[in-house]
Amino acid sequence: MKLSKHITKITDFVNFFIDISVKEGFVAVDATCGNGNDTLRLLNRVGRKGKVYAFDIQKTAIENTIEKARESEFFSSLEIISDTHANLDLYVKENIDFAVFNLGYLPKGDHSIITESKSTIEALEKIIKRLNPDGKVVLAIYTGHDGGKEEYDELYSYFKSIDQSDFNVIMTEFVNGKNNPPKLAVIEKKHEV
Ligand SMILES: C[S@@+](CC[C@H](N)C(=O)[O-])C[C@H]1O[C@@H](n2cnc3c(N)ncnc32)[C@H](O)[C@@H]1O
Repeated sequence: MKLSKHITKITDFVNFFIDISVKEGFVAVDATCGNGNDTLRLLNRVGRKGKVYAFDIQKTAIENTIEKARESEFFSSLEIISDTHANLDLYVKENIDFAVFNLGYLPKGDHSIITESKSTIEALEKIIKRLNPDGKVVLAIYTGHDGGKEEYDELYSYFKSIDQSDFNVIMTEFVNGKNNPPKLAVIEKKHEV
């Protein structure tokens, strides 16, 4: 799948990280599968030998993701889970190489159903505990909707609490963007030495 020529949207940045990080055979998690765009990209990267676990709490999102994922020849590498990502440990038993969280509400869906810091942080804690060395978690964070700023503030405090000896945590933003531009966070597990 092609990358955009310029990084104009936060999803361009997410795609960039997926493309440089996710390799054949990886175990990847799409914690908020929504319309299935990230799931499809992950499937095409992990291939037949890999695995993508995709979570969402909305029936529409699960249906949209299944439809989108069928575009991949590696559809059989997908396990789709209709549950909160906070319960990830009930479904994902392996170590994880990559995870993506595209937070907020489902575009073209019900804007009152949003991700919330409590379950987002619960899922993150479970993921980073079993992230392989060099593994990454990428989060697209939106602050313009009701509840978005609160989620970001809580996440930011959580990011600052993550142990520096094991992880790098990087925040990126469109600093000159108007109207609450989204931010991108990357959590990276350091090499084993
Ligand atoms: C911005 S959309 C995701 C877009 C998606 N990644 C894509 O490529 O189309 C956010 C999604 O998070 C889902 N969501 C909200 N809370 C959740 C939770 N606790 N666990 C899993 N998904 C959740 C919403 O239902 C919504 O579909």
